[in-house]
Amino acid sequence: MSDILTHTDAGVMTITFNRLDKKNSITVAMYAAMADAVARAGSDPSVRVVLFQGHESIFSAGNDIGDFLNQPPSTQDSPVFRFLRGIATFEKPLLAAVAGPAVGIGTTLLFHCDLVYAGDNAAFSMPFVNLGLCPEAASSLLAPRMFGYHRAAEALLMGEPFFAEAAQEVGLVNRVVPPTEVNGYAQAQARKLAAKPLTSLIATKRLMKGDTQAVLQKMDEEGQSFGRMLREPAAKEAFGAFMEKRKPDFSKL
Ligand code: COA
Repeated sequence: MSDILTHTDAGVMTITFNRLDKKNSITVAMYAAMADAVARAGSDPSVRVVLFQGHESIFSAGNDIGDFLNQPPSTQDSPVFRFLRGIATFEKPLLAAVAGPAVGIGTTLLFHCDLVYAGDNAAFSMPFVNLGLCPEAASSLLAPRMFGYHRAAEALLMGEPFFAEAAQEVGLVNRVVPPTEVNGYAQAQARKLAAKPLTSLIATKRLMKGDTQAVLQKMDEEGQSFGRMLREPAAKEAFGAFMEKRKPDFSKL
């Protein structure tokens, strides 16, 4: 069974995180599979909407930490950057169904979705600072834009989880439903969209989003810092602590 499942039906391509034993954390191979799926969805006329989903207990624990340390993204063609550029410039509607923890990219990918539905157990977090890193996926631009500066600063500097109700209040989430219903609800919404004229959906999304250049530029800028910081002592300490199941010690960093 693959760690990323893709399935297209009724105009909806559903991309499912399927690595429950590792909390749906995302490996380089999974980024590559998702980047390819998003590219295929963009060019395949039978796909009109894309939906990301996880399991009712977890959306995603973010980057696979071991994998990230062993194969850090080194060029702009790295699967993670291909995936991020793919979702940032995707013309058709992108939806997400989130239940349980959505860590790191599990949350930041939602800034690139048009509609987000959450289970009432959803817990969003962007703990980059706690990992000795900096934001990615243009979240340093899009979180302040969506939440307002101070609420974004709380989410990005403290890195603590915020929950479904707060996420709805700041505009990250459209609707909160029971966790067992979230994938089905999002699928039904996706199918409603898929039955609408695609040309109108694309034109409306393009008009709302405007120019994506600033987003792509920010991703680039963040990617350069992130890549450098991954090799620095703070990240080494944070990742080492995670692997050894202990608290990190940043007192000298
Ligand atoms: N990368 C690699 N492995 C991960 C992972 C990640 N991001 N998140 C979880 N796992 C693995 C754990 O190491 C553990 O593996 P093991 O069974 O071989 O020991 C397994 O998944 C279960 O994780 P566990 O922490 O026991 O589950 P939990 O239900 O107690 O907590 C989370 C779930 C998501 C809250 C917690 O796993 C977590 O905080 N993960 C790290 C998130 C993170 O920092 N991501 C990086 C963002 S850039």
